[in-house]
Amino acid sequence: MNLSPEKITLRQPDDWHVHLRDGNILNTVVVPTARIFRRAVVMPNLQPPITTIQTAIAYKERILNVIPKELDFTPLMTLYLTETLSREVIRKGFAEGVFVAAKLYPANSTTNSKDGVTDIRNIYSLIETIEEVGLPLLIHGEVTNQDVDIFDREAAFIEQILDPLLHRFPALRVVLEHITTEDSVEYVGNSKFNIAATITPHHLHINRNAMFEGGIRSDFYCLPVAKREYHRLALRRAATSGKPCFFLGTDSAPHLRAFKETSCGCAGIFNALNAIESYAQVFEEEDALDRLEAFSSEFGPIFYGLPFNEKKITLIRKPHRVPSSLHLGKTSEHIVPFHAGEILNWLCER
Ligand code: DOR
Ligand code: ZN
Repeated sequence: MNLSPEKITLRQPDDWHVHLRDGNILNTVVVPTARIFRRAVVMPNLQPPITTIQTAIAYKERILNVIPKELDFTPLMTLYLTETLSREVIRKGFAEGVFVAAKLYPANSTTNSKDGVTDIRNIYSLIETIEEVGLPLLIHGEVTNQDVDIFDREAAFIEQILDPLLHRFPALRVVLEHITTEDSVEYVGNSKFNIAATITPHHLHINRNAMFEGGIRSDFYCLPVAKREYHRLALRRAATSGKPCFFLGTDSAPHLRAFKETSCGCAGIFNALNAIESYAQVFEEEDALDRLEAFSSEFGPIFYGLPFNEKKITLIRKPHRVPSSLHLGKTSEHIVPFHAGEILNWLCER
């Protein structure tokens, strides 16, 4: 890594958690990711979800087909866990290198999660196989019990589901995805188990007030929902701590404007347009730019057991205004990016 007041050169990063969608928005949303990141762990929550080897291979092909030739980008595919899946899919999908990880969505916890898991006990046999083959288990860590306040669902998940799970399957390799609380920072940071966590740019920038500033602001609604300020500060300390158990995962989750701005809007923040710049801003504010490369480009590959990227990327200090929207081709359909209309200080050469 090379640091000067005007320029940062770092090993090319990977995005360890992204939603690339499918169909008519795939090519619009994948290119910003592929311009910066060398690899990305692609979430399987399509409709229907990716639950077979064949559909994962076909989805990967559709992604690769829309990547411009000059870009070197590898999608890393994931398997959506359901209660009816066979252990064979896991064994074979792992052995053939189709899946880099399995994803656990508690049923009805978030976008396209209705086919997820209603009770963790129903997939113990799958988890046994996941543990046995050494596939990372990526977890959306929220309980879905409506009696639990939405702001407490992540902390409740750790206590009720995650901790007992790790005691039952102590060799599991787990990523607690897009953590939002001090509870998660402490749990992951102090765990004796093989657990890491991804941290998004948005949870480093906003707290829950952002959703209600001057009115209801659906652009800042995502899941897990942003929490109180002290949680955001804990996430900032974790991301910039230099601890290998915390690494980059944007959870960039695009939804068309029309699906965000409605009486029942979708959860998700599209940050792929400027994710690395957004992280750089946080690391600079925390006086930790010297730790950006480890967070963005080293701790992820170490956890996944993959090689470091060879190429470098360069960020220059060039304050610029983030566009207010990204249109789908020449249509009026559009997606509003994270930081829309704001100034970001660093710009990555693309
Ligand atoms: O905000 C979110 N959006 N959180 C998730 O867990 C899923 C994602 C999506 O797919 O829209
Ligand atoms: Zn996600």
